[in-house]
Amino acid sequence: MSTTIATSPARPGSPARPGSPATTDLRATAASLVTGGRGILAADESPGTMSRRLEGVGVEPTEEHRRAYRELLVTGEGLAGRISGVILCDETLRQQLADGRPFPRALADAGLQAGIKVDTGTTALDGPDDGETLTEGLDGLAERVAEYVALGATFAKWRAVLHLGAGRPSVRALDANAEALARYARVCQDGGLVPIVEPEVLSAGGHRLEVCAAGTARTLATLGRALDAAGVDPAAMVLKPNMVTSGEGSRQPADPYEVARATVDTLRATMRPELAGVAFLSGGQSSETAAANLAAIRRRGGPWPLTFSFGRALVSPALAAWAGDPGRVDAGRSALRREVDRNVPAA
Ligand code: G3H
Repeated sequence: MSTTIATSPARPGSPARPGSPATTDLRATAASLVTGGRGILAADESPGTMSRRLEGVGVEPTEEHRRAYRELLVTGEGLAGRISGVILCDETLRQQLADGRPFPRALADAGLQAGIKVDTGTTALDGPDDGETLTEGLDGLAERVAEYVALGATFAKWRAVLHLGAGRPSVRALDANAEALARYARVCQDGGLVPIVEPEVLSAGGHRLEVCAAGTARTLATLGRALDAAGVDPAAMVLKPNMVTSGEGSRQPADPYEVARATVDTLRATMRPELAGVAFLSGGQSSETAAANLAAIRRRGGPWPLTFSFGRALVSPALAAWAGDPGRVDAGRSALRREVDRNVPAA
């Protein structure tokens, strides 16, 4: 099966900005997030999303239960050898562990970096029935970045959402989301945070892998041009894309070899080789499928470190194992550790 990428890629070349001392620090931070086979744990669900997931396992969706669940996630033994950092939401970043330490301090004590989701969610691009969305959060972003740096964050995340389907993603959705991602990334780099740039092409639908490849290529090519235009230093950012897969409802799901070939070829055609690294989202794949696809992607290889920044594929088993029972905290930690280990290559 061949994958045709009919796009005009961002041209590989020199970084858009020369390395100032601040940029050199950010580049080192970005590299440290993705090297050594370690990945990033995405535990940044908004309070609303996290509450729904708690209710899904029969736990009352209180602020304290959200806090206790995140404490479980970040306090497992030996995480730092496998995870470089944890993405938090604003609520968690300001909370404390039961021993009184703020989350960023506890993470630093454990050898983990603290990340912060800074987008404020999606809004309909052209009205409630449009179906396409724009991710918001640029208002006051520079001030929030300064506060997050003071609170101990070293990196940030912004997620744009693109839909596949007839005429989708539209040029308008591609341009608007790429522009917002690029502006976010530049504000973060200017303020001292490494931006994780997440353009997620959703896997909903029964489409073939080639449909996802074409939509992802258009998304990344548009994003690459926007990042260049905004003067974002590619070596001081981490890209967090979807893997190129068949739709989640496909009757003939692509196998890991096909996913790896399409994913790496699409990234190579559209992204600068100077990127610090690529850390994939899991996008609703099962833990097993996400891990198998990531292993195949690593085997195919690229000019960048290739790793994970999974949310659901890592934390869903932990949430189910814990289910709000204080006596099952260790069971939750073990479940997380098992999923993390699945995705860290053997030394
Ligand atoms: O923004 C999305 C998360 O950071 C990654 O979540 O791995 O469940 O797709 P996911």
